[in-house]
Parts: sequence; C-alpha cells; structure tokens
Amino acid sequence: MLLKEVSFLVYLRTNELAPGMCMAREITFFDASAGAVVTLKAGTKLTDMNITQMRMSRVVAGAFIDSRNSETRVISSINSEIKENAITNIHNLADNFMDSSKGVTQSDIDAIGNTTEQLIDELASKKDILINIADIKMYDDYTYHHSLSVAIMAIAIGLEMGYDRKKLGELGVAGLLHDIGKVSVPIEIINKKGRLTDEEYNTVRLHPVYAAEHLKARKLVSDDCCMGIIGHHERWDGTGYPMKLRGEQIHEYARILAVADVYDALTSNRPYRIPAPPNEAIEFIWGGAYTHFDERVVRAFLRKVAPFPTGSKVKLSNGMTATVMKNNNDQPLRPLVVDENGMEYDLSDLSKFTNIVILGLCDADTARLIHG
Ligand SMILES: [Fe+2]
Repeated sequence: MLLKEVSFLVYLRTNELAPGMCMAREITFFDASAGAVVTLKAGTKLTDMNITQMRMSRVVAGAFIDSRNSETRVISSINSEIKENAITNIHNLADNFMDSSKGVTQSDIDAIGNTTEQLIDELASKKDILINIADIKMYDDYTYHHSLSVAIMAIAIGLEMGYDRKKLGELGVAGLLHDIGKVSVPIEIINKKGRLTDEEYNTVRLHPVYAAEHLKARKLVSDDCCMGIIGHHERWDGTGYPMKLRGEQIHEYARILAVADVYDALTSNRPYRIPAPPNEAIEFIWGGAYTHFDERVVRAFLRKVAPFPTGSKVKLSNGMTATVMKNNNDQPLRPLVVDENGMEYDLSDLSKFTNIVILGLCDADTARLIHG
C-alpha cells in the first residue's frame, strides 16, 4: 500500500494546497458543478483545476505529499477501501429501513458487522496512534459519513477502555446505526437552517426510538446494541432524551456514542452553522464531563483524538506560527511543536511552557487562524 512506502506525508486542508503537490491517498468526492463523482488516485499531481474542484466540493482535508516540508512524519489512518465499504453498507441498510415493505434484513446487518470487524482490526493494530480527525472527515459531511466517524471514534474509545472483541463489535454496530432512524424524519426538518418548531424538534427527538424499535422488532442486533442506539442523546445529568435517563442508568455504549456524536457534530459542516475548530470542540467535551458526559469516557476519548494532527500549522498564544511535530497521548491540546525560527516547544512540559497555548489551526501560507 502506498502509505507504507511514503516517507513524508502531510494532512492538509484544501485551502493549503498548491499545484504540483501529490495525492498520498485516493480521494473520492462529488463535484457539484460537473454533476459527477470524481476520484483522484494516489500519486496524482495536483493541478489548479483539481484544487478548485476540491474546494468547490467542500472537501475539508486529505493526505498529500508535500515536498516543501520534508520534516513531517508519516501519519497512519483507516484504509480508504474500508471506509468506502462502510458508507455503501450503511446506505444500503438505510434504503431498506425506509422501505416499509421490506425493512432492514439480516444480510444488511451482516454487512455492517463485517465492516465493524474491519474497523476494529484497523484500529486495534494501530493502538498507539491517535485518531486523526481531519483524515476521517475527508469527505463532505452527511449522515452516513457522520455515522462512520462516530463508529470509528467509539471503537477507539472502547479500545482505550479495555473492551473485548464482542463489546467492540456491538459498540461499532451501534455507532454505524445510531442515527439510522433519521431517515424516517422528513429531510426538510433535518436540513432546516432556521430554528425548529416544537413539533419539528419533537419529531427529530424520536430518531433513536425509530431505529431501536425497528431493529429490536426484527431481532437483528443484541439488546445492548439497541440500548446504545436508543440512548445516544441521553445526558449524564438527566437533561437528554428520549427517556431523560441519568448517570449509570444510561447504557455505557450510549455514553460513549454521546461523546463521539457531539464531537463529530461540532466539527462538521452543518446547514445551520460553520464547524467549530477541533480544540474548541475538545474543550466543549471536556467542559461537559460530569454534566453531559461520563467523565471516564471523556478521559478515554481525550487520549485518542488528535485535534492538531502531526504536520498541521498552528498559531501559538505568543504570536508565533508553529508546526506540530508529535502528539501527546495524555494532553491532546499540548503537542510538541516547532516555531518558524526552529524553536521547539514541548507544550506538555508545564514547568516550561505553562503560559503558552495553541489558539487554533492556521493557514500555512497566510498564518491566519482558520477558524478565527
Ligand atoms: Fe442522533
């Protein structure tokens, strides 16, 4: 696989690309202006047209080889074939979910189960590597990609919490199917830009119930898996829905899915708002430990995500622009960085750098904060 042969690879936002850079990994997206699916293969040398196509199609980020920066280290990620299969399988299952004469079938569930096993294999073999959120989000956002991101993050959290294979499997399937009930909610409500009416909001709030009841009635997934799906909007302090459960009344799978779901929702393009920068989303999740989220789950999550992936450019609170060289498992917001003068800051060393924080990701050329 190309990834293993590449010495230097970076994750870049599409607004950082320049002609002549190479695709490190294949990327597929829908080009709305041409009305067609475009695939740029690994090894493609980017032209101005490719870059414009990606930007216009709202591709957030991807993996590229940048010969201008040979100090960036290789980052590992989920195989793109597995991701594409996952999306196809969720899509097929959703089609049957909507078809009232058919409903979800055992073979839909088997396909989702296989996808989950592959995701677990990938993540378990890369145990020490932080999940690179920019990489899983390289497609434009919609429910199926959101489901895949949530499943990947949930499995990573489960691994960190010491889950065995059976529990990881149930949790992964719950992640892939957690929002499947949304296909029963009218699309105008899901994509509405303005405020929802009370009635619309109540309809949306039923989506965990739609999914769990459909799967339970057909005895297609375990009870635990159903509990994960139905409870993914419950909150630790009892302020969630649909049953206003609190604390450990909420199934642990649901508590894991809640963290993954909120993180992905905050950092995704939504019709009603722009994505939050990863560091703000992480701070939001951390701020919700004890109130909205199970603190043990939040801690496991924080050990597994990389808000500032290796190779990304960041703005420091001392005004300098720096490159992330290495992530820190215990302190995801405080990686090892090198500024433009070559000065190294191990931000996890609070005895030396207590007064310096990362303000956010920034544009490699203009050094402006991306979300500023
Ligand atoms: Fe949901």
